[in-house]
Amino acid sequence: MSSVLVTGGAGYIGSVTVERLVGAGHSVVVLDNLSKGHRAAMHEGVPLVVGEIGDRELVAKTLTEHKVEAVIHFAAMSLVGESMEKPGDYYQNNVVSGIRLLEGMHAAGVDRIVFSSSAGVYGEPESVPISETNRTAPVNVYGDTKLIFERVLAWEAERTGLKHISLRYFNAAGASGRYGEDHRPESHLIPIALQVVAGRRPELTVFGDDYETPDGTCIRDYIDVRDLSDAHILALDALEKGRSGIYNLGNGEGWSVLNVIDSVERVTGRVVERKMGARRAGDPARLVASSSLAIRELGWKPEHPELDDMIEAAWAWMMEHPGGYTE
Ligand SMILES: NC(=O)c1ccc[n+]([C@@H]2O[C@H](COP(=O)([O-])OP(=O)(O)OC[C@H]3O[C@@H](n4cnc5c(N)ncnc54)[C@H](O)[C@@H]3O)[C@@H](O)[C@H]2O)c1
Repeated sequence: MSSVLVTGGAGYIGSVTVERLVGAGHSVVVLDNLSKGHRAAMHEGVPLVVGEIGDRELVAKTLTEHKVEAVIHFAAMSLVGESMEKPGDYYQNNVVSGIRLLEGMHAAGVDRIVFSSSAGVYGEPESVPISETNRTAPVNVYGDTKLIFERVLAWEAERTGLKHISLRYFNAAGASGRYGEDHRPESHLIPIALQVVAGRRPELTVFGDDYETPDGTCIRDYIDVRDLSDAHILALDALEKGRSGIYNLGNGEGWSVLNVIDSVERVTGRVVERKMGARRAGDPARLVASSSLAIRELGWKPEHPELDDMIEAAWAWMMEHPGGYTE
């Protein structure tokens, strides 16, 4: 069992991962500036250091004080639209501050990191399902920051011997029971559809129904947040054995926007009011992962591959937290 620093551990995927790390017997400390995270998403007994990943001295001090052996790095800005409006903030937070985090790790003698990358590194895919050897060509600043940081990790490995695993997630969905999705603003389809049925939004907009897909709407790959979190714990084991690498994490199956709406209606028994809108720039028709490398090399096995299961978990969490987290 290791001692782990989780950056962004008060956020959506971070909070579920902290819960599962503690469950697996790891000792955990969280570094989060609470720009998007929630105190109420902190797992009991886990220390929270409120601060910046870009604060090298704070990082080194936290790692040393808590005898940390490995870092799981979730903290980032992750709104695609916003990244095009404020590119400087995204390169600063996701790349420059990330480099400071690595410097803090180096100063404290910590040489293992799991990094939250994204399917956004691929841009418009040259072929589907997407494997790790597909061309990377981000179509927005957010995806570019993730790709650049993957490259930073590779250079840092040459320079210092850092061991690093980048996990390229497709779309995280669902909840753990205790911890769920409360992004403000929310940009993800499933919570938005659930907010519509819960009466918190009047309707959702389907961005384009003239794509070359069976029902004309975009197809995406959803992965249960519990399965996603488990992959991080497996990645820690792989790092300990000296492995570095890049892995896709998805279901290998795609669901269209209309499939997701159908599933939300099936699970909740309510109608999702929707309207058809124009395509959004830079939205590929189909993004589906091949995760065979993670399955083969990390021993990862998704336990919740059904979309209805993910939506059921997200709905249960939303019913228990009607206004999201309260602090
Ligand atoms: N949610 C998804 O579907 C998805 C898909 C692909 C990749 N990712 C990546 O996974 C990671 C986690 O995503 P999430 O949905 O849990 O996001 P989130 O916004 O819920 O969590 C991110 C956390 O990082 C913190 N943070 C941000 N900048 C910080 C900084 N400079 N210093 C300290 N803390 C900081 C925020 O307060 C927040 O708690 C992100 O890196 C994101 O880009 C998410």
